[in-house]
Amino acid sequence: MKIAVLGSGGWGTTLAMLLFENGHDVTLWSYTQEESDQLKKTRVNPLLPKDVVLPMGLQYTANITCVKDCDIVVMATPSFAVRDTAKKIKTYLKEGAIVVSVSKGMEKDSFLRLSEVITQEIGEKYPVVVLTGPTHAEEVAKRMPTGCVAACEDIAVAETIQDLFINSYFRVYSTNDVIGVEVGAALKNVLALCAGCTVGMGYGDNTKAILMTRGITEIARLGVAMGGKRETFAGLAGIGDLIVTCTSLNSRNNRAGILIGQGVPVTEAITQIGAVVEGYYAVDSIYWLAKKMGVEMPITEAAYRTFYENADMKTVIRELMTREKRREIDNIDLP
Ligand SMILES: NC(=O)c1ccc[n+]([C@@H]2O[C@H](COP(=O)([O-])OP(=O)(O)OC[C@H]3O[C@@H](n4cnc5c(N)ncnc54)[C@H](O)[C@@H]3O)[C@@H](O)[C@H]2O)c1
Repeated sequence: MKIAVLGSGGWGTTLAMLLFENGHDVTLWSYTQEESDQLKKTRVNPLLPKDVVLPMGLQYTANITCVKDCDIVVMATPSFAVRDTAKKIKTYLKEGAIVVSVSKGMEKDSFLRLSEVITQEIGEKYPVVVLTGPTHAEEVAKRMPTGCVAACEDIAVAETIQDLFINSYFRVYSTNDVIGVEVGAALKNVLALCAGCTVGMGYGDNTKAILMTRGITEIARLGVAMGGKRETFAGLAGIGDLIVTCTSLNSRNNRAGILIGQGVPVTEAITQIGAVVEGYYAVDSIYWLAKKMGVEMPITEAAYRTFYENADMKTVIRELMTREKRREIDNIDLP
């Protein structure tokens, strides 16, 4: 198949390599001409490990019209650039093309999921598949066994994308729960930031475990209220992505949290990381979204008070621990 991958960060580059290796005709689009020329010349992406060399035969461009003959268009830009990029491709998309969204996040202020943003721009006639899960680009680029999930309301389209990406080191599952997988991906960074804080404060594995477990419970609560399926949050896009993000030092959010937990002021910690700390902005969006929808999210609320209202972290955690006792599972069947 003829495929364009839009966005030549670590993830877009890795997926372009993988699809090329799977036997497809792949063009990697960069946001700037300079980035594209550099990739073409060096066949190395500085955002990936040094020994990862891009295969001969992969094509490079900074011209967005590259999407015009493509059967599949993979959108791998940062989340803030998704709307603009979708706007740019709209007039060039070929009849019957499928768009794959691999960016993670929610649109600020509108609270829209990224697949909704794409559909708003390109129209309903092009199906959008969300491909997400616990997938560090650095590891996939080195062909380390990895799992993820392809989601589309039309399961047959999700399966087409599953077939396109699946190989011996990249195992792809399919689902029709688009809302569930996108909410899981967008919210995990909030918890990664919080998990980092507990490590920075000197707390141990027990603290991280209760944070992650009760965290996925509240993510699921919001996801179900938005229309997702509860089971999805026990899968790769839910707890799977949460495990990777909260336990890995590759995660910028986790590293920023560690600094904050050690007492570095929030804005200074973010500056030290030197890249966008999505979790910090997500706390603000999710806090207000949960309020608007009337969903109880005590950890997100505690994070909001800590990062935006300067509340003392130890006090906030004590308050979380001493909330009114409750059953672990809502609506559990009791004898
Ligand atoms: N890196 C990973 O391991 C990974 C894994 C899964 C999903 N993702 C998601 O994929 C998306 C891309 O992440 P990444 O790590 O590859 O790259 P990134 O977020 O580091 O972005 C870098 C790329 O975005 C391009 N860019 C910057 N501004 C742009 C704009 N206005 N329009 C279009 N492109 C622009 C840059 O030129 C660069 O190529 C993110 O949403 C991320 O959450 C990343």
